[in-house]
Amino acid sequence: MKNIYSNIFSFNKKILNKSINSLKKGNVIGLPTETVYGLAGNAYSKEGVKKIYSFKKRPKKNPLIIHYLNFKDADKDVIFNDYFYKLYKKFCPGPITFVLKKRNKSKIQSLATASLKTVAIRFPKHPVTRSILKKINFPLAMPSANLSSGVSPVSAFDVSEEFKKKLKIIVNGGSSKIGIESTVISLVGRPKILRPGIIGIQNINKILKVNYVKKSLKINSPGMLKKHYSPGIPLLMNKKRARENCALITFGKRYENMKNCFNLSKNADLKEAAANLYKTFRKIKKLGYKKIYVVKIPNFGPGIAINDRLKRAAY
Ligand code: TXA
Ligand code: MG
Repeated sequence: MKNIYSNIFSFNKKILNKSINSLKKGNVIGLPTETVYGLAGNAYSKEGVKKIYSFKKRPKKNPLIIHYLNFKDADKDVIFNDYFYKLYKKFCPGPITFVLKKRNKSKIQSLATASLKTVAIRFPKHPVTRSILKKINFPLAMPSANLSSGVSPVSAFDVSEEFKKKLKIIVNGGSSKIGIESTVISLVGRPKILRPGIIGIQNINKILKVNYVKKSLKINSPGMLKKHYSPGIPLLMNKKRARENCALITFGKRYENMKNCFNLSKNADLKEAAANLYKTFRKIKKLGYKKIYVVKIPNFGPGIAINDRLKRAAY
């Protein structure tokens, strides 16, 4: 059998050009970002955007994040406001996504935005994806490179296992440093956090007043769907121990190092825990455990984003 990882390439000039040609032809490729790996396609190409949805088996009503090198490139597609400029200056490029009004003359495929009047935009920091963005004259629609409702990939190998040979190019950019998806903030009307991330409410509140979106508000952000980030086996939160054939995800020093224990961070560092979360889900699943128990994770800072993902994984 041919190596299943033979679609993974190290980054060099040759693969840079190959990636660009592939995107120009309307194909999709796997790319690294600092948050998680993405499945990238030309956001202006119907074929490219269609392929993203069909590869991921993603419901058409779930819009994609559009990725740019910098705000100048995004100016032709969205309408900026003061909230945006302030946050951009502080956090970009980086792990934050802004929902803004779409311009009427924008060339973004309406399928990519699920026909909404808004667009989610992001400026990724990873040098590989930035060097591709520098050389193309279209933005990249790029959801996480996993099958819909599953766990986001944090390495090129995760992406390869997710799509197998269907995907012809995955550029290896090492493991994703942040390890969970970007913070999504709506800047249409009053700023609201739609998806918590490593950039937390406390960080954003230093710059402008923001809230989490209330459950009753029906915002079309399917990342808010209850079932999401599913590891494929049942997950139970706030547990102290696990049964024998089940895995226990722990946090901090006070847990023993039993064979079925997987510590997200011995130093009780929430940022480290976030970076290890999806990696740990995949590891546990591969080892054949039937269930995942998770100890209580502190609910502040990056812990808010971790608990958000755990809740949806548990649903
Ligand atoms: O870190 C990330 O954001 C990664 C990397 C690859 O950039 N991408 C990612 O994309 O997580 P995805 O498709 O898995 O999640 C996009 C989220 C979804 O929750 C979607 O509903 C929301 O962004 N979204 C996209 N467009 C939106 C819009 N116009 N209004 C509200 N939410 C939107
Ligand atoms: Mg996703």
